[in-house]
Amino acid sequence: MTDMILQASSLTHRFGATRALDRTSLNIVEGTSTAIMGASGSGKTTLLHMLAGILTPDEGTIQYGGRDITQMSDRDRSRLRREEFGFVFQQGLLIPELTAIENVALALMLTGTPRAKALGPAAQWLASLGLAGMEDRRIGQLSGGQAQRVAIARAQITGARVIFADEPTGALDSETSREVMDALIGSTVANGRTLVLVTHDPNVAARCTRTVLMQDGRIMPGAAAASEVTGREITQTGPNPIVPGPAAAPGAAAHPSPPSATAPAPASAHVNAQANTATGVER
Ligand SMILES: Nc1ncnc2c1ncn2[C@@H]1O[C@H](COP(=O)(O)OP(=O)(O)OP(=O)(O)O)[C@@H](O)[C@H]1O
Ligand SMILES: [Mg+2]
Repeated sequence: MTDMILQASSLTHRFGATRALDRTSLNIVEGTSTAIMGASGSGKTTLLHMLAGILTPDEGTIQYGGRDITQMSDRDRSRLRREEFGFVFQQGLLIPELTAIENVALALMLTGTPRAKALGPAAQWLASLGLAGMEDRRIGQLSGGQAQRVAIARAQITGARVIFADEPTGALDSETSREVMDALIGSTVANGRTLVLVTHDPNVAARCTRTVLMQDGRIMPGAAAASEVTGREITQTGPNPIVPGPAAAPGAAAHPSPPSATAPAPASAHVNAQANTATGVER
C-alpha cells in the first residue's frame, strides 16, 4: 500500500473570469519528488499554492494527515504551513538585512524556538548544504545558487515533511541549477521527505520521481504527455535512475537531521516504483 501524503481531488479555482484550475486531481506519495510542468499560465503555481494551503480552492478537497486542509481554519492552516510544510521560491525571498544563518534560524524562531537554540541547527543545515563559513554573510553577498541553498535550509529547519518549490532554479544557469537540485533532492527525498516542485526545465524534471504536465488548469492524462516534455519514460516500474541516492548527493551523507525533524526512513525503491505507476495522472 502506498503512503499518500497529499491527495488533491477535483480542484477548481477561478480568478475572476479565468479558470486557473479545472477539476484537477493529484496524489503525492510520501518520500517522492513530483515535478509539475506546463506552459506559462497553465495553473502550476495555483496548484502548488493549493497543495501548500496558501490558497483555498473554490471547489475540491485536499487530504493531508487525515484532514481536508481546504476546510481548516486560517489559524490551523498557517500552523501547518509554518511547521509541516517548507517553501522555496524562484527568488529565495530571503530577508536581505539578515545574515544567512539568521534567515535560516528565523524559520525556527517563528515556531517558538529561542534564538540561541535556533542558531546551532541553522549552522548545521547551512553546513550540510555546503555553506559552512558563509553563515554571517548577508544575502546580497551570496551567489544566486548559494542564496537558493539558504532558502532550502530555511524551508526545512522546522522539520517540514513536504517541501514545495516554485521554479527553484528559474533564475540560475544550468551548472548552478544542477548544484541547487543536488542540494534540494539530497536534503529532501534522499532523507524520506517529500518534494513538490514547479519547473520549466526538463533537466530539473528529469531529476524527480515523477512529472505531471498541466494544460489549461488540468493535468494532462497519461504519462506520455509528461515524458514528451522530459524526454524520458516516466511509466517505468523501477526507481528513477537519475535520482541520486544519499551517497551520490553532495551533502546528503553528512546531512544532519534537525532536532525537531521526524526522520522518516529513506524513500525506498518500492515507493518510487509505485509513484510512477499508481498515482500519476488523473482525469
Ligand atoms: N491572483 C491572480 N489574479 C488573477 N488571475 C490570476 C492570479 N493568479 C493567477 N492568475 C491566472 O490564473 C492562471 C494560472 O496562473 P498560474 O500562476 O497558476 O500559472 P503558471 O502555470 O504558474 O504560469 P507561469 O509558468 O507563468 O508561472 C493564469 O491565467 C493567471 O493569469
Ligand atoms: Mg507560476
